[in-house]
Amino acid sequence: MTKHFLTLLDLDKDEAETLIQRAIELKKMVQEDTPHELFKNKTLAMIFDKSSTRTRVSFETAMVQFGGHAIFLSPRDTQLGRGEPIEDSARVLSRMVDIIMIRTFEHEKIEKFAEYSQVPVINALTDMYHPCQLLADILTYVEHRGSIKGKKIAWIGDGNNMCHSYINAARLFDFKLHIASPAGYEPDQQIMSAAGDCVSFTSDPKQASEQADLVVTDVWASMGQEEEQRKREKSFHNFQVNQALMTGAKPDALFMHCLPAHRGEEVSAEVIDGPQSVVWDEAENRLHSQKALLELLLNSR
Ligand code: CP
Ligand code: NVA
Repeated sequence: MTKHFLTLLDLDKDEAETLIQRAIELKKMVQEDTPHELFKNKTLAMIFDKSSTRTRVSFETAMVQFGGHAIFLSPRDTQLGRGEPIEDSARVLSRMVDIIMIRTFEHEKIEKFAEYSQVPVINALTDMYHPCQLLADILTYVEHRGSIKGKKIAWIGDGNNMCHSYINAARLFDFKLHIASPAGYEPDQQIMSAAGDCVSFTSDPKQASEQADLVVTDVWASMGQEEEQRKREKSFHNFQVNQALMTGAKPDALFMHCLPAHRGEEVSAEVIDGPQSVVWDEAENRLHSQKALLELLLNSR
């Protein structure tokens, strides 16, 4: 069976822990200029149906550092964009490349692609999940504060793809996730109940962030929801992560955001540009954690 990474739950707890430790080693190799061309001539296909800065650059750089190659594919210039069936595209691409990364809308699309692919498929964001970002977030927490096990993490804002991946991360890495979302923007009920005691929900951001070790937020309107921006600004205006909210968290609490951020909306400039924010490390860690992921998947073949 081909090993895919469609959600965090495609990893078991041991694999997840090992991956984070390996990411730390790989990061050190980059910093010390130690060559690690472990995947010479291996090719990653990157299918992007949505925009990206971090994901594209981190995956492409990862393959270069491994001595391999990445191919950027957009719907504007592939047959996928002209309606070639997903099943056919998956069969064709996976006969040529060694691994495939997809950023798209419907999660079902990536599941279908994976079903027909002979090579590992990585979810680089769907409307439901963003598991690659969570690998970077956990790595960032571990680097700054040590193990995340048993810690209190506050998710403030939309019950979106990032929130769903935080819920899965709470299960995998054994932390307590406290979610605060406005009415009508709660996370998926099934994903939440599957996480049992790892997750709790409130509509009060103060309560969720009280004594938290880490406070996380994300945009109010995700890619594909641009036309809801105005309406969402009204619903979310009490859900800004600002200094007042951070004051209720632990004094050494960290702040994370997957980026891109909207200062003055989901986060104040004071917080994202302040001393508790680790967003730049978090962004850099996309590279190192995805290299550990690529290695795990390429070696599984
Ligand atoms: N955080 C993240 O996935 O960023 P990009 O949309 O720039 O890839
Ligand atoms: N929730 C955001 C994350 C962007 C990296 C989106 O889907 O647009």
